Amino acid sequence: MPEPSRWHVPVLADQAVEALVWRNDGSYVDATVGDGGHAEKICERLAGGGRLLALDRDPEALERAADRLNQYKDRVIFVRASFARLDELVENAKLGPISGILFDLGVSSRQLDEPERGFSHRLKGPIDMRMGPDTETPAATIVNEWPERELARLFRVFGEEPHAASIARSICQSRSRRPLTTTSDLVEAIGRRGTRPEKTLSRVFQALRIAVNDELASLKRVLELVPDMLERGGRLVVISYHSLEDRAVKEWIRMEARGCICPPIVPECRCGHFPRMRTITRRAVVPTSQEIAENSRSRSARMRVAERL
Ligand SMILES: C[S@@+](CC[C@H](N)C(=O)[O-])C[C@H]1O[C@@H](n2cnc3c(N)ncnc32)[C@H](O)[C@@H]1O
Repeated sequence: MPEPSRWHVPVLADQAVEALVWRNDGSYVDATVGDGGHAEKICERLAGGGRLLALDRDPEALERAADRLNQYKDRVIFVRASFARLDELVENAKLGPISGILFDLGVSSRQLDEPERGFSHRLKGPIDMRMGPDTETPAATIVNEWPERELARLFRVFGEEPHAASIARSICQSRSRRPLTTTSDLVEAIGRRGTRPEKTLSRVFQALRIAVNDELASLKRVLELVPDMLERGGRLVVISYHSLEDRAVKEWIRMEARGCICPPIVPECRCGHFPRMRTITRRAVVPTSQEIAENSRSRSARMRVAERL
């Protein structure tokens, strides 16, 4: 077990837990428990029958979180699973209506810093990027087998990368000489692009990670399940680290907070849509400059909060 100082530093921790835990005897879900930093702060606030369902796709993360939360073990249920079927997991855990759900999306610092996971373009390792054993296809399959056009689309859509087409071409040229097996092969194939080559590498790696782990689709799917799981007054807290996720969360909350969604030309409402959530954060909450100085990985974080009506 690594030193606790090498644990992932939870981002926007006080703000997230303050927004999430509004009753100390409630049932909560940390859908991305990671190293358990947020979960520990949630547990500190629980009392009476307060419980926490702690999930992660990554078995190692779950083990570390269980170790960290040992003193709260009577309150916490650990499950290794993707949050995509959160409704079933909550039902199996017999927690009843949920008082709050936290999503702290993406990968942890520990996952990023392990070369053998292949998440970082700065560390040499296999081109893997799977968050857990429930994911079959490593990123190497995508970079070595997808057609050039599909790769370009992936980098454009999930990486928002302006050089998507030429990067895809260059990867296909490299792999025609020999398959790309390590992150260093991939970095070399991408080459140095634009004025900020590091940014390009991050965007390409991000796009691959999103595709490998089906991240955006899982997020959109689970958001649809949230209103039926939350009790009245229950809180949804989402911390995201790139604009695609943040946009999906923002748009979903905006839609759920609206009543009628019929087009303005329709004389009377036919949609039957009614608001199920209330926006708590009109603008995304971002880390302070002090938090960014202490933990540079927090710099892209954006937190949004909504409440069940
Ligand atoms: C940013 S870290 C969370 C860190 C955590 N809040 C802490 O304080 O240590 C994100 C975690 O979410 C997990 N994860 C990502 N997508 C997931 C999914 N669909 N289902 C379950 N866990 C997921 C990752 O394996 C990773 O451990």
